[in-house]
Amino acid sequence: MKKNSPVSRSGRFAQGPGADVAQFSESISFDHRLWRHDILGSLAQAAMLKKIRVLTNVEHAAIARGLKQIASEIEQGRFQWKPELEDVHMNIEAELTRRVPAGAKLHTGRSRNDQVALDMRLWLRDEITTLLGEIAMLQRALVKLGEKNTDAIIPGYTHLQRAQPVYFAHHLLAYVEMLERDCERLWDCHSRVNVCPLGSGAIAGSTLPLDRVFVAKQLGFVDAQGKPQLTQNSMDAVSDRDFAVEFCAAAALLAVHLSRFAEDVILWASAEFNFIKIADAYTTGSSLMPQKKNPDVAELSRGKSARVIGNLVALLTLLKGLPMTYNRDLQEDKERLFDSADTVRVTTRLLAAMVNHTTVNTRACLSAASDPTLLATDLADYLVLKGMPFRQAHHVVGSVVALAENTGKLLSQLSLAELRSVNAAFGRDALRVFDLKRAMARRNLIGAPGTKELAKQLARWRGLLG
Ligand code: ARG
Repeated sequence: MKKNSPVSRSGRFAQGPGADVAQFSESISFDHRLWRHDILGSLAQAAMLKKIRVLTNVEHAAIARGLKQIASEIEQGRFQWKPELEDVHMNIEAELTRRVPAGAKLHTGRSRNDQVALDMRLWLRDEITTLLGEIAMLQRALVKLGEKNTDAIIPGYTHLQRAQPVYFAHHLLAYVEMLERDCERLWDCHSRVNVCPLGSGAIAGSTLPLDRVFVAKQLGFVDAQGKPQLTQNSMDAVSDRDFAVEFCAAAALLAVHLSRFAEDVILWASAEFNFIKIADAYTTGSSLMPQKKNPDVAELSRGKSARVIGNLVALLTLLKGLPMTYNRDLQEDKERLFDSADTVRVTTRLLAAMVNHTTVNTRACLSAASDPTLLATDLADYLVLKGMPFRQAHHVVGSVVALAENTGKLLSQLSLAELRSVNAAFGRDALRVFDLKRAMARRNLIGAPGTKELAKQLARWRGLLG
């Protein structure tokens, strides 16, 4: 073997790559973080090679020992990564072989093409599990804040105009629902990540009797029933990055949900709304204006959604013109995938912490929610119950709202005579519609912000989230 030349060039090439080429094409600077999963994959590969007698027991033991030793050195930051060895796969294999001669047999029937697909799947599987845990923490934080403030009522908005009153907790539970769908999508994505590509070789499998089922079982690539999950086409297996795209898509939608929540938080924390107060530790000041307390955690959460969306688009663009099968372009997938995973994980975590350090200004909420126009629809419903067609009721209440506006009164301050001047169907009980507590008690359809329904939904989430 020639000195300073990666194993992938030995034999065929007269010299190593130019320094500029090596620098341009290395991936160790970012794929080193796959090391744990690369070693797990190699341990399973070694065990399989022993099973099919490519490795003796002694060789296998030496390789396993060597790999574990390298793992602990990496863990302790004592391992020396060499950029001239291109990537995490060659760094680990080269060092193993330097220490254990039998390491030269480890790559039997394996290519970096199926190896990198394996590593990414193993890595992403763990990443999804961690992320699902973080999302559940955020859901719990939202439910807890809702439970602490079951008496807080705010205006619900459409077009960012006051629409109808809702419990603050009902608004929070809307995000809990969105996050639950994110979990479902991630878990669904997990089922397609959880398929073992090893044994696909560079493109066309191997002439050697590799035991793919054994490897898949070793690495936990099994479905809920314990059935091993193997890729079924070697060409697809080495060029497929659907699992990464699916994750990035699920992450992008999660990021969008987090961004929308962040936007609500930013509005609520403004003096104009004043619905919530975020603890000092989760806000920042201004370098110039001494009075400022800015909701930067929420703003950055909103801002970071941009890169997560960008990562998805970058991955799709990376794939759209690629001929079969593996092309080096695919190396560009990792930073996008890592960045999406890192960004949504840390954003979810920070938002959960921020929610846990947020208090609700129930008085300000109530004062906004006491705007009687929020109950104009309830007044129309009142007329419907008196037998009036809804379209007519809508028109009548519209006229009542105009009357209030013209007389400079609140809707609830109009007298029965004034109401009846618009339509005779109004009775004595009409003004009771503006009793907010009563109004909240009356909207108990499944999924509506009624007093009982809210308690039911909070209890349901408490039960589901533990
Ligand atoms: N570093 C490479 C990547 O991330 C590993 C696979 C290299 N395969 C190859 N045929 N050069 O895609």
